[in-house]
Amino acid sequence: MQFVHNRYQIGGVDALRIVEQYGAPVYVYDADRMKRQYARIKDAFSGVPRLRINYACKALTNLNVLRLFRQLGSGLDTVSMQELDLGLMAGFDPHDILFTPNCVSLEEVNEAVSKGVRINIDNISILEQFGDQHRGVPVCIRLNPHIMAGGNSKISVGHIDSKFGISIHQVPHVLKVISALDLKVEGLHMHTGSDILDAQVFLQGVEILLRAAADFPDLDYLDFGSGFKVPYKEGGIATDIEDLGERLSTRFNEFCAEYGRELELMFEPGKFLVSEAGTFLVRTNVVKTTPATVFAGVDSGLNHLIRPMFYDAYHHITNVSNPRGKPRIYTVVGYICETDTFGINRQLNEVREGDILAMDNAGAYCYMMASNYNSRYRPAEVMVIDGEAHLIRRRETMEDLLGTQVELPQLKGAVEA
Ligand SMILES: Cc1ncc(COP(=O)(O)O)c(C=O)c1O
Repeated sequence: MQFVHNRYQIGGVDALRIVEQYGAPVYVYDADRMKRQYARIKDAFSGVPRLRINYACKALTNLNVLRLFRQLGSGLDTVSMQELDLGLMAGFDPHDILFTPNCVSLEEVNEAVSKGVRINIDNISILEQFGDQHRGVPVCIRLNPHIMAGGNSKISVGHIDSKFGISIHQVPHVLKVISALDLKVEGLHMHTGSDILDAQVFLQGVEILLRAAADFPDLDYLDFGSGFKVPYKEGGIATDIEDLGERLSTRFNEFCAEYGRELELMFEPGKFLVSEAGTFLVRTNVVKTTPATVFAGVDSGLNHLIRPMFYDAYHHITNVSNPRGKPRIYTVVGYICETDTFGINRQLNEVREGDILAMDNAGAYCYMMASNYNSRYRPAEVMVIDGEAHLIRRRETMEDLLGTQVELPQLKGAVEA
């Protein structure tokens, strides 16, 4: 995403041309960027003999994105039956899919077992019931190392008050369950949260998991989750993946030597793989000057991109249509009937009504959190591959909004006198 000769390009394609062709608002994903991020992780951990990246598809589940990662050799991390089914539809081998649900019923776990995917269990009650019903089916256990990582309380999941995982203090209990039910634990897992600011904290979690791993004799893999941070603004903090790769690989290889088996090292990145590949293009409907503020009101809102309102997330905004315009300060807002702000006091090249604005880091947790609030349609999605833009999801229509509604005949008649 950059200006080339004053034209804003996404994967080599002119952003304004994409809007002409597919309309606004529109999410645009640069496939090359996703490939580069995947290659970065692979390279960073190339010192580990057995490495597996499971793309955490909750970040973005368009089938084309799933297939892109499958072609790169990735596995898939899934948290719902629907993600799991999308993964199978995208052609993933069931064995390359890890199912990591939280607070789901045993029925959902059973359904996942019947589809042949790997199962990751994060509470003792389900572990016991699973063991009873699925003798001989190997399982992964999600442990909670109780460390505080993650950039925001809503995305920190490894701490003491978190609902995720089995507490590391309950490992003795877990070992009793395993022994009583003769369970084969093939993997241990942790995910401390997204947006880890300090690699040292991540490595502390790793140490805790390794200490626990020594008590599980049948392991085939250790999954350290994700949380790799990407920058959202110039100079923003990012996980130094190359440094982490070096340190963690050395430690992991040491552990495998002590353990006596070459284990597989797994990660399940979402944001790292797709966040920066995404750009959200919106059109400016109105420029509204009040005594205190100049608002740029756009044809989108928290119904399409909720992260700024939900997490106070920063998404960098650029005026794509007027690169030579005089820089001015704007608060960019949406059209939803609630406070609906994309960015406060942003310096943008002069914004005129009709101008297209680009929001960065729109690949992860953006379209996926979109809704029909205010009964508006969800936008289209476009993927740029090898310098060409392709529609990968059409914009919704009234048929989509009505598709699940059931109209009662007794309410369709004329107004009663
Ligand atoms: C279990 C699990 N794994 C992986 C991820 C992906 O995290 P990130 O997008 O920070 O890479 C998440 C995100 O919430 C998660 O809950």
